[in-house]
Amino acid sequence: MATAARTRRSASKGKGSSRVMKGLLVVALVTFVAGLLFGYDQGVIAGALAGIGKDFRVGDVAKQIITSWVTLGALFSALVAGTLADRFGRKPILITAGILFSGGALIQGFAPGVPVLTAGRVVTGFGIGFASTIAPLYAAEMAPSEIRGRIVSTYQLAITVGIFLAYLVSDLLEPGRWREMFLIGLVPGIVLITGVVFAPESARWLAKVGRKRKARQSLATVTRPAEVKSSLDDLEHELAHEKKEGDSTWGDVFKPSVRKALIVGLGLSFFQQVTGINAIIYYANTIFESAGLTSTKAQTTATLYCVGLTNVLATFVAVAYVDRFGRKPLLFLGLVGMFVSLCAVGLGFAIESTKDVGSGASIVGIITMVALVIFIASFAFSLGPVVWTIISEIFPNRIRGRAVSLATAANWGAAFLVTEFFLSIVNGIGESATFFILAAMCVLAYIFIWRYVPETKGRSLEEIQAQWAKGGSTKSWEE
Ligand code: BGC
Repeated sequence: MATAARTRRSASKGKGSSRVMKGLLVVALVTFVAGLLFGYDQGVIAGALAGIGKDFRVGDVAKQIITSWVTLGALFSALVAGTLADRFGRKPILITAGILFSGGALIQGFAPGVPVLTAGRVVTGFGIGFASTIAPLYAAEMAPSEIRGRIVSTYQLAITVGIFLAYLVSDLLEPGRWREMFLIGLVPGIVLITGVVFAPESARWLAKVGRKRKARQSLATVTRPAEVKSSLDDLEHELAHEKKEGDSTWGDVFKPSVRKALIVGLGLSFFQQVTGINAIIYYANTIFESAGLTSTKAQTTATLYCVGLTNVLATFVAVAYVDRFGRKPLLFLGLVGMFVSLCAVGLGFAIESTKDVGSGASIVGIITMVALVIFIASFAFSLGPVVWTIISEIFPNRIRGRAVSLATAANWGAAFLVTEFFLSIVNGIGESATFFILAAMCVLAYIFIWRYVPETKGRSLEEIQAQWAKGGSTKSWEE
C-alpha cells in the first residue's frame, strides 16, 4: 500500500515537474531568443557596412548614422518600455519587440537608399530597446530565485551568440549580399513572436493588476504544484507591502535615498560603453582593414573568430564564476585586460604610422588581432555580463522597473555617442590616439568601481537594500 501510494505520489510529482520543466523552458527560450535578436542586430552591421558603402556610395558620416541610429531607437524605447509593460503586461511588449525586429529587418533588407535604410535601423532599435529592458525583467519575474542570478548572465550569453551568428552569416555571404544578412533577422524575430504567444504572462504582473486566478495559473507553469500556493501568498504579501507605499513615480527614482544606487547604475552603464566595446563590435572589419588585412574575406573571418567566438566563450567564465569570485574582482581583472590590450592596439598603430605603408602592416595586423582577442575576452567575463547583473540587483523593488529603464537608456545613449563619433574621431586624431583615449576610459572606470560600486555577491535583494540604508562607504559592504 505504502509503496503504491509513494509510486502514485512520485508519478504525480513527475508529471508536475515535467510540466514545470516545460514552462521554464519556454521562459528560457523567450529570454534567449530576445537576447539573440539583440545580438544579431548589433553584429550584422559589421559585415553589411562594406556592401552598403559600395552600393549606395556613401562615406564615413553616412556609415556612422546607419550604424548608430539603431542605438538611438533603442534609447527611446528603453525609456518607455517599463511603463508600457506595467500598463499592458510583459507579453504584449515582447510581441511588439518581435514585430519591430522583423519589420526593421524587412525595411533594411529592401531599402532603396540610405534614408529608408536608416529608418529601418531606427525601427529595429525600437525593438531592441523593448527587448533589452523587458526580456530580463520577464525572466527575473518568472524564474525561481535559485536560478535567477544565472538568468542575467545567460541573457548576455544569448547576446554574444547573436553577435557571433551575425558575423558567421557575414563570413558565409559575399559583402554584396548585405540585404540577405538583414533579412535573416526575420527568422529569430518570428521565433520570438511565436515563443511569446505560448509563454505564460508574468505572474507578478497578473497579481499586480488583480487577476489572481490567472496569476495562479501562470505560477503553476513554472512552480512545483506543492509550492504554488505559498509562492502566490509571498507574491501577494510583497505586492500588498508595495501598495502601502503607494505607486512609484519618476520622482522616486531621483530621491536622495536611492541616489547612491542610481549613480552606480548610471555610471556602470556609461563606462560599459565608453571603454569601446561597440566601436569594436560594429567596426571590427574596418579596424582589421586599417591593421593590414586587405581582403574582405580575411576581415570577416578575423572578426568572426577574434571578436565573435571569443565573446561567446569568455562569457561562460562569467556565468560560472560571477557568484563564486564576486562582481568586483571580475570587473577589476577585466578592466586591466582591456586597458593593456587597448594600449597595445594604440601602440601598434603608432608604430605603423612611423613606417612606410605596407612594411609595418603585418606586425600591426598581428598585434591588433591578439590585442582585440584579449580585449573582447576581458570585456566578456567582466563589464559585459556583470554590469547588467549589478544593475538588476541594486535598486529597491518599488522603483526597479523605472530605474533599470533609465540605466538601460543611459547605456544606449553612451553606445550612441561612441558609435556615432568613432570613425570621425579616428579620422580626426588617428587610430592610435583614439585607442589611447579608450584605454584612459578604462582607468576612470576602474577608479569609479573601486570608489562607488558595492560588492553584491551572496546577498539577497533585501540585504542589499538594508546595506544601502545603513550608509557608509562601499568598503563597509565587504566587512
Ligand atoms: C553590451 C552591448 C555589447 C555586448 C557585447 C553587452 O553587455 O551592453 O552594448 O554589444 O555586451 O557582447
